[in-house]
Amino acid sequence: ASTLGASAAEKGRYFGAAVGTYKFSDSTYMSVLNREFNSVVAENEMKWDATEPQRGVFNYSGGDRIVSHARAGGMSVRGHTLLWHAQQPGWAQGLSGGDLRNAAINHVTQVATHFRGQIHSWDVVNEAFADGGSGGRRDSNLQRTGNDWIEAAFRAARAADPGAKLCYNDYNTDGINPKSTGIYNMVRDFKARGVPIDCVGFQSHLGTSIPGDYQANLQRFADLGVDVQITELDVTQGSNQANIYATVTRACLAVSRCNGVTVWGVRDCDSWRGSENPLLFDCAGNRKPAYTAVLDAL
Ligand code: XIL
Repeated sequence: ASTLGASAAEKGRYFGAAVGTYKFSDSTYMSVLNREFNSVVAENEMKWDATEPQRGVFNYSGGDRIVSHARAGGMSVRGHTLLWHAQQPGWAQGLSGGDLRNAAINHVTQVATHFRGQIHSWDVVNEAFADGGSGGRRDSNLQRTGNDWIEAAFRAARAADPGAKLCYNDYNTDGINPKSTGIYNMVRDFKARGVPIDCVGFQSHLGTSIPGDYQANLQRFADLGVDVQITELDVTQGSNQANIYATVTRACLAVSRCNGVTVWGVRDCDSWRGSENPLLFDCAGNRKPAYTAVLDAL
């Protein structure tokens, strides 16, 4: 097929982009989005600071706009993210212990209930593992409520929206390394104990190289009985950009439990990585060599 979304669909996958509603009035942006992608994720609008700016006061306006645009265009929606150490509202940053735990689980329940039936996959928990060699959890206010906070979040999300796939999502997990192995061990434990987890998201914010065991790492998670998804792909512009994009695309297609790929923005000028030009379209909306490499790989 001649677009990313249609080509991915022929392989039983989706190809998505992170979006922001503040770009919805940009006609170049919207024409690329609507032509090429069959999945979206909110770059910021479904995060805790956006959806619960005051305790118990919820604002779904941005998320709802994204969901309704997706529905109108036949796109699926990834939900990002229910709990994360970053982009918490100020009131939550000031909580701890049982009070924070209750607020966090209530947040999961309320948001997942609001969007019930409309989300393909939720990033229930984002970035809870530490970088480096420990393989352990990242310190955060949520982690300090007790090591069981992640499983509590997954159970609450399942109860609120039984139809959504529930994912754990993280970065620097692009190969077999201590961090990805720590996550692997958690997923294996969750599966053994019946904690409801369905998928693992690999953000894949990449530089100028990609680990040789990228596909093998996806496969070892799939072999635990969970789906895998590439959730926030972007790649530093350089001589290798197109090759890295193609390698990631081929890796997903080679793993039967890889559901799809999401890139973290539409055009280079929409990227959180500023001057790195890490996406598939230039600022005018033209297809880059990396785009052609992905389309050829699909
Ligand atoms: C980023 C957004 O792209 C920015 O607009 C925002 O200012 C900060 O967050 N990992 C994630 C994403 O899971 O939510 C982050 O998104 C990028 C890193």
